[in-house]
Amino acid sequence: MMIIDGRNNFGKQLLIDCRGRTKYSFAMRNRINQKEKLMFNSKVTFDYEPVNESIYTFEHPLVIKQTDQFINKTKDKEIFKPINAIKNKNKKKTALVVSECWHRFSELMPVLLCYAAYKVKSNLLRHYIIQVPFEELGMRNANEIHHVLFADAQKLMNIGRVKVKNKIKSLVFLEKSFHQNDDDDNYTLGLLLGLEIPGQENIKTILDCMSFDELVAKRLSKTKFFQIHQSIEIEHIRLNTSNFLRFCKKREQKKEFMRGFENGLLFWEKFWLEVALLCE
Ligand SMILES: [Fe+2]
Repeated sequence: MMIIDGRNNFGKQLLIDCRGRTKYSFAMRNRINQKEKLMFNSKVTFDYEPVNESIYTFEHPLVIKQTDQFINKTKDKEIFKPINAIKNKNKKKTALVVSECWHRFSELMPVLLCYAAYKVKSNLLRHYIIQVPFEELGMRNANEIHHVLFADAQKLMNIGRVKVKNKIKSLVFLEKSFHQNDDDDNYTLGLLLGLEIPGQENIKTILDCMSFDELVAKRLSKTKFFQIHQSIEIEHIRLNTSNFLRFCKKREQKKEFMRGFENGLLFWEKFWLEVALLCE
């Protein structure tokens, strides 16, 4: 089940996703910890340690309500409409273009996320931001830097690579977005959530686009890159939503957070439109 497709109870979906439908009430009764939930969703065992959270857990009513609101705002943008309209026209070209653009995005992300962690004004904020770039950079394993894992998956398509023009404009827009409002931490937190919120749909879409035949689909879905990302995006959304709840209490702070969030979504609209046009 993809979270982004649902407008209903996000918290319930999280638990269903992570524990399986029949385990939902068990999860509620036993208040299983975050790590256990995330591991349950993974077909492979990987050494994943989320941030410790004692307040804004998956079950917290404010996390559930707030995430629903953010997801509904995201769904209204129809970010994936252009790529969905074109992805089946020339499957091999789509696979080549999408994977090349995603590789560029994936290579850039740790740079921008580390910059976000650098520029905020407190170590407490930095603590909650640094988790995601730490994961992107392979956590404690240099062989698991995400953009390298992605390149490994890309090779399994076995159709070479395509040259995409030097500058992907939407990525330039994203870099600029990170340098805007440098003195406002609320904006930065909002931008980070905007980047994370379509995470699961992003992973589903790149897997779909790269899977130009059944054999490749099978190979790709077994890769560490896809296994990890099918499991952890859900925690990234919770983490970034908890940043909103924890740090943005005043009206002005919320307003700035939403400015960042909207810019994150605007990036995704631009990115998927640009990728779709390159696939034509
Ligand atoms: Fe990643």
